[in-house]
Formats: sequence, C-alpha cells, structure tokens
Amino acid sequence: MSKFFITTPIYYINSTPSVGSAYPTIIADVVARWHRLLGEDTFFLTGLDENSVKTVQAAKQGNFKDIKEYADVMAEKWKRAWTILNVSHDDFIRTTEGRHEKNVENFFNKVYKKGDIYRGEYEGLYCEGCEVFLTESELVNGECPLHKKPPKKIREENYFFKLSKYQDKILELIQAENYIEPTSRKNEVVNFIKEGLKDISISRPNIGWGITLPIDKKHKFWVWFDALINYLVDERYWPVDVHIIGKDITRFHCVIWVGMLLSAGYKIPKKIFAHGFFTINGQKMSKSLGNVVDPVYLAEKYSVDAVRYFIIREIPTGQDGDFSEEALKTRVNTELVANIGNFIHRVLILVKKLNGGKIPKPGNLDERDQSILDLIETKQEVVEDLMEQFKLKESLEEILGFSTELNRYLSEREPWKEKDANRINNCLYICSRAITALSILLYPFIPGTVEKLLLQIGIENKTITWGKIGQELLKPGFEVGEIKPLFEKIT
Ligand code: MSP
Repeated sequence: MSKFFITTPIYYINSTPSVGSAYPTIIADVVARWHRLLGEDTFFLTGLDENSVKTVQAAKQGNFKDIKEYADVMAEKWKRAWTILNVSHDDFIRTTEGRHEKNVENFFNKVYKKGDIYRGEYEGLYCEGCEVFLTESELVNGECPLHKKPPKKIREENYFFKLSKYQDKILELIQAENYIEPTSRKNEVVNFIKEGLKDISISRPNIGWGITLPIDKKHKFWVWFDALINYLVDERYWPVDVHIIGKDITRFHCVIWVGMLLSAGYKIPKKIFAHGFFTINGQKMSKSLGNVVDPVYLAEKYSVDAVRYFIIREIPTGQDGDFSEEALKTRVNTELVANIGNFIHRVLILVKKLNGGKIPKPGNLDERDQSILDLIETKQEVVEDLMEQFKLKESLEEILGFSTELNRYLSEREPWKEKDANRINNCLYICSRAITALSILLYPFIPGTVEKLLLQIGIENKTITWGKIGQELLKPGFEVGEIKPLFEKIT
C-alpha cells in the first residue's frame, strides 16, 4: 500500500484557533481524507509549537504561575477545536512532550557530529512575533511588517548552524519542478537564496523556557529549530509527501528545514505547498492585529460543514481572500442549500413518492440518461486532477457544476409529471447513482454531512472509496430511510 504523509504547521499557543489557523488545518484534512479514499496509508500530523517566548508571555498575562499548566490548558482548547471541526489528524504533537525533546536532541547530535554547529556572537533585531531575527531592510518604518511592532535589539552568544554550507544544494533541490507551489512562492524563495544564505543562530542563552541544548545547558534551542523537527515524529512515514504551510513561513520550510535535513542526513520533503491568508478588509487576520474570527464560534452558529465548506470554497488555495460572515451565508444558501442539498432532497422525496421509497431498476437508458453516467466519470477525472494540484476551491466549483447539471436533468425529465414508468425509473435510478457520486466527491470537504446522507441511504461510510464513484452503490430495490434536509438555510 502506498503511503501518504501530510502535515500542517504547528501552531503557537498564545491564542486559541482562528479562521486563519483553521485554514491550513482544513486544507490538510481535506487532502488527507481524499488520500484515504484513494486507499493510501495516510498519516496526517498536526500539533502545537509551545516552546516560544510567546507562550511565556501569554501564561504571565493569563496569571498562570506554571507555564506548562498554561500550555496544557491551551492544548485542550486546540484539540477541542479540531474535534469540533471534524479534523481527522492521526497524531497531535506538542513540542513540550518528551518524545519530541528526544527527537530534537537526536537530530541536533547528528548535525553537531557533522561539524555544522559552532559558537559565535550575534547581534540583531529579533521579532518575537515571528520568532526570528530580521534585517534592517525587512523593516517597514522601523517595524516588523507582519506584527507591526519594532523588533528587539539583541546581542548575545549563540550557537550557529552552518546553513550557508548547504546553499547550492538547497537551491538545486528546491528548484525541481512543482517542488514549491505555487510558483510565485518558489520564485521568492529562489531569489532569497540567490542573495546568499547566512549561517543561522539556533540557540539563545538565559531564557528559561524551551529545550536545552545538549552541549551547553545554559542555552535553549531557538524555537524554529526545535519546531521544525516535530515533523519527524514518526520516521516510518518519512519523507513527508507534502507540508501545508502559510506563505509567511516558506523560508523556514523551504530553506532552513531543507538545510537542517541535509546536514542531519535525512531525505527532504517531497513537496511544500504554501497557501495565502484569510484577510479582514484586506488585513491579515491575526491575533496581533486583533481581528480574529473564531472558527468554533462559527461552527456552533452555522454548522461545522458550513465553515469547512466556506473556508475552502472562498479562496483559491495559493491566494489571499477576505473573510466575511455575509459571504459565508450566501455561499451556504445558494450552493449547499439551493443547489446540492436541493438536488439530493428532491430525488429522495421522489423515490419515496413515485416508487415507494425503493431505488428503481433501470430499463433501456436513452442518450440523455447515459450523458449523466458519462458526466459522473468525467467529473471524477477532472476533480482528481484538481485535487492532485491542491486546487481545492476549483474542485468544489466542479462539484457544484455537476450538481447544477443534475438539477437541470431532473427538471427536464419532470418525473413527477411523467406517465411512462420506464422513464421515471431510469431518471430516478440515474439520479441515485449521481447522489452516491456526489457523496464521495464531497466527502473530504464535508464529511459529517456526507456521513448523515450515507446513513439515510443505507451505505456504511467505511465502505466508500474514490474508486466507487462510478459504481452502483445504491442497489435497485434498496429502500431509502428517513429523509431529512442535509443543509439548513441561514437567515
Ligand atoms: N509556530 C509556527 C509554525 C511552526 S511549523 C514548524 C507558526 N505558528 S502560527 O500559529 O503563527 O501560524 C501557523 C500557520 O497558520 C502559518 O502557516 C500561518 O500562515 C497560518 N495562519 C495564521 N493566520 C493566518 C491567516 N489569517 N490566514 C491563513 N493562514 C494564516 O507560524
């Protein structure tokens, strides 16, 4: 069985999840669920980046005496949010766990033995928001452009990693076709490397929180060096098939992480996909800007699948897009309720009314009936191709187009007015085939709703696979169960 390993970034715990952090998580969840449907041995990893100075500050602000206690409280909140949002991760890594600490030490020892660590003095401008040293040229009006705060001037003894030694190799590897997607992000990274890589500081002295450097107990690991190693939590699945990351953290993944892996002697990730930002009135949604929207609040107000659907549907995966509740309502009402939900509901009600609830046996199909069966096949191919390219929004558009065509077919056939029993049977049979196809196509995006639908039509959700889209899951003669609308109109 082929394996598929996908990751999200691990999140800082100075705040609870926002639509911004739900975004990479849901992208990864959709892709992971799709790979499971393909029958692959899928490993989906997410987790928390806890060894940051932000954790210490947030614990203090929250009046926690014990930082770990604060981290534990936050970890529960993050886990709960992902459970509510129906995220199907296979492991949840916290960087304060012993297993992670051990991995970091092992990894560091490999790099150290390679001769890639040295001691030196560092003077620079540190942004605690980014957890990184910035250069003067990166500042805008003296501030970090992302966090809108001036960085701290720091001068200290650090241990350095010889990143510059790997410059040529990194450049060669990451220029491979489709390695970093979208291409715009790849170009940024390539230009950055071509300007020349400097060695990076990987430790900080005299900070109380974090993982201790095995070779010098006064030092803690720089949080990014520690955080990136989370991805090695289960080496059976290494190398990762795709890291899903935000465009703000491409350098860490495409440059530093690749360099670290080369030094320690690991294979590098197969692909890095960088998505854009959810914005509010054009500004990045982020805690430091105070404009976050809570996805759990949204899920409780509108439904989990309304949120999952909207987050994926609203913006092309590589680009930025604005978030608004109004847009969410419109999409849910016009697309999920009036289009997809309407088709499924109409068909099931007709099966009840016109055929006593049983899926009819087809007779001789005419060309139009056959065109729908053909459409099922072509849609599957198109969606598969888009999913492979992480074009998730576009996949949903195709599925919606499919549903629009199905509604058209049903309206043309008007089985409720039809006298010819053969035509009624054929139409309802074709539509029920289309319902099963729709349910498999939609499963990765809105799994909870699809599970409810499968229950109504008597299909066990574990039995669906991508390969079954064109097949007859609802056997003629099968009696459909109680019918309930799948989506509720938002008023
Ligand atoms: N802890 C680091 C990642 C370490 S990975 C080894 C970090 N954490 S974060 O919590 O600040 O951000 C995590 C991810 O969430 C990033 O990929 C970031 O791009 C994403 N998002 C946070 N806000 C976002 C939006 N408003 N929109 C889309 N994604 C954004 O960085």
